Amino acid sequence: MLRRLATIGLFALAAACNNGSGGGAPAPDDPFTVTFPAGFLWGTGNAAYQSEGNYKPGGGRVLSNWSRWEEMGKIHSGDDNDRGVRFYEKAYYEADFDRAAADGHNVFRMGVEWARVEPERGVFDDAEMQHYVDLFQAAKDRGLTTMVTLYHWVTPRWAADPLPSVNRDLFATFPNEPLWDDFEAFTRYVVPRLEGLVDYWVTFNEPFTVVALGYLLGEHPPGKLLDLTGAINFVLNVAFMHGRAYDAIHELDDADADGDGEPALVSMAHHGNRVLPVDPSNADDQRGARHLEYLLNLLLIDAVTTGNVDADLDGVFNPDSANPYEDHYPELVGTMDYMGLNYYGPMRALGHLGPFPIGAPLYGLPLLMVDQYDPDLPHNVLNREISAQGFRDTLDLYWDRYRLPFFITENGTDRGVYQPGNREQATMYHMEHIYVLGRAIEDGIPVIGYLKWSLTDNFEWVEGFGPTFGLYGIDYGDPALPRIRTGNADVLADVIAAGGIDRALYDRYVLEKYPSDARE
Ligand code: BGC
Repeated sequence: MLRRLATIGLFALAAACNNGSGGGAPAPDDPFTVTFPAGFLWGTGNAAYQSEGNYKPGGGRVLSNWSRWEEMGKIHSGDDNDRGVRFYEKAYYEADFDRAAADGHNVFRMGVEWARVEPERGVFDDAEMQHYVDLFQAAKDRGLTTMVTLYHWVTPRWAADPLPSVNRDLFATFPNEPLWDDFEAFTRYVVPRLEGLVDYWVTFNEPFTVVALGYLLGEHPPGKLLDLTGAINFVLNVAFMHGRAYDAIHELDDADADGDGEPALVSMAHHGNRVLPVDPSNADDQRGARHLEYLLNLLLIDAVTTGNVDADLDGVFNPDSANPYEDHYPELVGTMDYMGLNYYGPMRALGHLGPFPIGAPLYGLPLLMVDQYDPDLPHNVLNREISAQGFRDTLDLYWDRYRLPFFITENGTDRGVYQPGNREQATMYHMEHIYVLGRAIEDGIPVIGYLKWSLTDNFEWVEGFGPTFGLYGIDYGDPALPRIRTGNADVLADVIAAGGIDRALYDRYVLEKYPSDARE
């Protein structure tokens, strides 16, 4: 019931935004202009591990699968994430929030680090939890609505330790009900302490990135190669952990923290990016793209909206399947109040290796990066293709299937080396994607808010401190880690101040083509 009410409330909000005076319809004399709805949420996000690092105020380090991964020498740059970008420290997060507020932001997303708060199974560290209470209070004091992520890839070592001699991974067996109990206990510990400070909850961030990089490619912990069983078990456990957390949050948090009439709203931050065939005329590639599109983008969201779990991954829900877990689970139905979407760029699937078609269930793998299929296409330094049209296509895909209002929980690109003065490529990306979002809203797609990834540069997982996603860069050469304003901060501040985008604002940032676009 609660689920339905929350969702209906959001639809009402979205409808009001679409039809009201600030409703975003193009001005009749200027079809180019987009206007964002009044009350639209603008801001940024980060992840606790990426910005706070493993730093512990009393000494020692946070014991997680990721701090172990660093110790195992797996970070490409060799960087040690000892203190992230010093965001654990009050003076730093307060100054960062001051900058965000001065730029007009009204929302901020961050995680509560499970490994920091529950260092031993069942033992919670109240002082570390108080740190997060203080941090979210500081955000709220500056007018920032907060969104909290409960799981952003980092697992306490008692639940996952990739060190080969330990090789512990509670996610890799399904069903692992004790792990669901653990995550629910963590959720039940966190939620009442943040009730009144937080209205938007994200249970899991991008489960499929863990699948792809952790279980199939061995780049992230647990460091497995083509471990299909581990991969599907991870996803299935996540679905049930999400369901448990959804119910616990709604049971424990009925405070309306931001005064918009709606208390807790729960979702995931899902990595939704269209999967396209490398060669659109090749039937194997088409099949690979279709199948991967389903696996990466839809399977889990189908499970947590309809309760139907396609455990054999064949693309068809069939409760008579030989797979004993393929079934309808009422406890998963309707456990997404909004669609949290992380969009970066499209991906491409290959359906064959040389003359040999890739067979089930690996159709479409491996996913390719732009340097492996067409380096002439616009892309960032991490070889991620850039396509604002892909953003619109992704919104359409999810809207047509689920009819859930969106919260863009991440969108961004590395500032990269293409840009003299560190400006054009990323600012153009940013402006184009926000513009496309505005158009989608005008076409009737409800969107609650938009989070640019990220407020500052951060520790970019296995890439270390190299990549630069921040609105504010960091001078790592100076131990004080000063923040340096970039053009990305200007784009967001300008759009917020104008309440939308007109031709002049668009042209200020958008070039004829991306600097990395080598096509004629
Ligand atoms: C992740 C972030 C990461 C970003 C940029 C997203 O997939 O959720 O943690 O920093 O991508 O690579």
